[in-house]
Amino acid sequence: VNFEQERLQFEKKGYTIIKDQLHHFVEAREDIKKLIKLGRKGELQTAEMFNDYPNFSGRYNIGKIKQVFQENLDLSHLKKSFDSVDWRSIYQGVLGANYDDYITTVHRLHVTNQEYKYSSIWHRDEGFDGLTIRSPKVPSSLRINLYFFDEVGFKVIPKDNDYFYESTAHDKELFSTSNPEHYCQTELDIEETIFAKAGDILIFHPELFHRPYCSTFRAHLHIDSVNPKEMPNYTNYGNVEGDLVNLHRHSFKRQMVNLFKYYAPIPSRNYFKFLKEKPSYLKNQFIQRPSVFQKKY
Ligand SMILES: [Fe+2]
Repeated sequence: VNFEQERLQFEKKGYTIIKDQLHHFVEAREDIKKLIKLGRKGELQTAEMFNDYPNFSGRYNIGKIKQVFQENLDLSHLKKSFDSVDWRSIYQGVLGANYDDYITTVHRLHVTNQEYKYSSIWHRDEGFDGLTIRSPKVPSSLRINLYFFDEVGFKVIPKDNDYFYESTAHDKELFSTSNPEHYCQTELDIEETIFAKAGDILIFHPELFHRPYCSTFRAHLHIDSVNPKEMPNYTNYGNVEGDLVNLHRHSFKRQMVNLFKYYAPIPSRNYFKFLKEKPSYLKNQFIQRPSVFQKKY
């Protein structure tokens, strides 16, 4: 295999799915289930919640495990599966890059527990000082998901969309962290949805607009891959001390608010904001937050 199709797709859209790259993923699932089980009991050092909801089992609604290989656990099945990927050929074939120039700064498990659907905001990870995604240069950093289970829902705006990739001038319609802050969590006409099967790998450019989204169980391994020569100021998440999480449950009041918002068929605040002015590519959905009404696929 020379990954020619995937190379063309990455060049055109800024992301690509590479089918059937991960071996031993069935065994790796056992390690992943072990991680989630401990995380939900509050027994991992790098587990974190996005939203907490009341429950009587005392289980935490884990959203991510930030550094799986820093947990004090035997994860040999997961490691074996990870190492079964022919990273050298993929980097060469898809990106024209030399795998040895890159380091992995994070091995993060993204988790959605089956009892609560999850989605988040549109954003780019990088590119705030100007975009490089359309330059012919090999990317200085990459985002990669390894799928051990079938998964549907992750959203992207592909790179061939001129409106968002000629410059960042329109970013504030979806995403602005500076004053006034603005976030968007609704469907777009221009979005594409990722359908992944167990064994697949997704590679995307960190400047790609994306939105986490999952309405069922999710447990993929996400890695940040960085070329330190090209990106000397990269954040090294590999430092355990700086990455420990104080995992405590949110207040009861906050849990109840989250629960109410999750089940309430009432419009989100953004729905009213977009009534005043709605970009033409945006679908102004009534509910724009993690919700039981979120589409399942
Ligand atoms: Fe992101």
